[in-house]
Amino acid sequence: MCGIFGGIMKDGNVAPIIHQALKRLEYRGYDSVGEATIYGEKLYIKKDCGKIDEVHKIHNLDSLPGNIGIGHTRWATHGAPSEINAHPHIDCGGQIAIVHNGIIENFAELKLELENKGHIFKSRTDTEVIAHLIEEAYKNNPSIRLADAVLETVRKLEGSYAIAVISSREPNKIVCARNESPLVLGLGENALYCASDIPAFLPLTNKAVIIEDGELVTLSLEGYEIRKIADSSIVTRAPKIIDWTPEMAVKQGYPHFMLKEIHEQPACLRNTLRLQEHYLDLMTTFLDRAREVFLVACGTSYHACLAASYMFSKLAFLATYPVIASEFIEQHGKSVNIESTILAVSQSGETADTLAAVNAARQRAATILGLTNVVGSTLTRVSRVYIIQQSGPEIGVAATKTFTSQLSVLAQLALRLAKKRGKISQDEMDFLEAKLKQIPDIVAKIIEKQEENVKAVAKKYRDAKVFFFLGRGISTATAYEGRLKLIEIAYVPAIAFPAGESKHGPISLVEQGFPVVFICPKDETHRTIIGNIMEMKARGATIIAIIEEGDEEVKKLADDYIEVPKGVPDVLSPIPFVIPLQLLAYYMAVEKGHNPDVPKNLAKSVTVK
Ligand code: G6P
Repeated sequence: MCGIFGGIMKDGNVAPIIHQALKRLEYRGYDSVGEATIYGEKLYIKKDCGKIDEVHKIHNLDSLPGNIGIGHTRWATHGAPSEINAHPHIDCGGQIAIVHNGIIENFAELKLELENKGHIFKSRTDTEVIAHLIEEAYKNNPSIRLADAVLETVRKLEGSYAIAVISSREPNKIVCARNESPLVLGLGENALYCASDIPAFLPLTNKAVIIEDGELVTLSLEGYEIRKIADSSIVTRAPKIIDWTPEMAVKQGYPHFMLKEIHEQPACLRNTLRLQEHYLDLMTTFLDRAREVFLVACGTSYHACLAASYMFSKLAFLATYPVIASEFIEQHGKSVNIESTILAVSQSGETADTLAAVNAARQRAATILGLTNVVGSTLTRVSRVYIIQQSGPEIGVAATKTFTSQLSVLAQLALRLAKKRGKISQDEMDFLEAKLKQIPDIVAKIIEKQEENVKAVAKKYRDAKVFFFLGRGISTATAYEGRLKLIEIAYVPAIAFPAGESKHGPISLVEQGFPVVFICPKDETHRTIIGNIMEMKARGATIIAIIEEGDEEVKKLADDYIEVPKGVPDVLSPIPFVIPLQLLAYYMAVEKGHNPDVPKNLAKSVTVK
């Protein structure tokens, strides 16, 4: 996730406006920053890695001349944070500058083609191909308009993008386009803006035009023209008046970052399906060779590991050991060795306990693999191979979107390993891959259809003193995560167990009205979990069930239920089934008057042991 901005003004210098807009977009990424402007038919650029204030201090971004320009604040996806990889990117001739938010899936093929045509690349980003493709369009047709050159270019791109382009050949225009990454226009008095989202320009204008997927826009001082990328047809769309307060604006109208991040999950999950095959294959090879595999993490990331241990076992017949990082050294520190592999999972890549476990294993020559959300984090530096999960910055302390993204990446690894080991047929593989591709839409549907239901359930149980979360099989991990969310932000004591284990102790707590949340996908565990529901009901428990649509059997037994679409294979079920639990914790916290974004005593990244 990155932030892009473009501005064109009748009078005055645009650079300070871009700088301030990027500050308001900084929550979308903050590892590098850059601006490009045009003045006197010449392109000017300043960019570097570091936070906006740091880069500004060194380079004085505001000194760029001209009334037209673009800017970018980066959250690295391809290529580490560095001056060279910072946006804007330019073509060989230094006439075209581009900023981009998204992931170009086919950049490697495009880059090769362009290199064969003589283009010289400077960065390791996927974005740079766009600048060279536009240059190529000019080469093929020197009289082409910038908008048409960009149109030709974006038709070749696969993946997600919101881009803004300027060219000294047509110094009075900004061309922007969108596919799956957000893009909005701001219409000022004597100025026009394009941005990743509304807060970027809200102090300047509250008149916005939302750009949709598959659209390209040309901005000039005369106004804006929207066209469809597919057939170049003109689109007319009236502006909207935005009445958000500045505080609401940063959260895109959501009352809290956590809710915003819950809603971002379909987009983040789509990003996880665009990871570079090369890294997935490389990590799969290491997992395949390993004699023993430890999945090491803390908090929510540990729950992703727990779910992954079922995925690896069921799909690839690989036994893995999920270990809470703070226990790793005591439990396995002496036995871990050169033949051990540690897959460390950490959203931040900086959690002290996870890094301590990794370092102990490294000292004993174990192989370290990493899954993280932060390029350049310590975990990436100590891992033999690492994968960046592409969730964008997560601000809410309680992890939500990073959890489901981790699950998606881990499922992809398990699937690849299964294929490599010949443990599943091509048909099964195709089926599971197709299902994985549907997951983002399934998650979107759950949020759309069930949010109000979950809100009502939260209201009903707001005064409950304690909750039970039970699941079987892979849903045990979902139950643990549901419990953790509720404890973390709603401060409600909660217990989670594999449902089968509940009769070995925890059931003694159950009395009339005791709320028990059951995770009930219609997988092999369904029959047995019904038995567990009966056991709880017999003791007076109130049952809240997360079920598949149309699961009449459980519906009859439950006091309240939340439905998720049917047909999700068990190995993928934690992704959709955890969504209602995230929403439940969120709305319980709100009902109780707590701020879910900043739970007391907790930190987003725990860098002490
Ligand atoms: C903290 C956060 C949790 C997170 C855990 C592990 O406890 O509050 O949300 O799951 O750290 O963080 P990591 O960055 O390693 O995934």
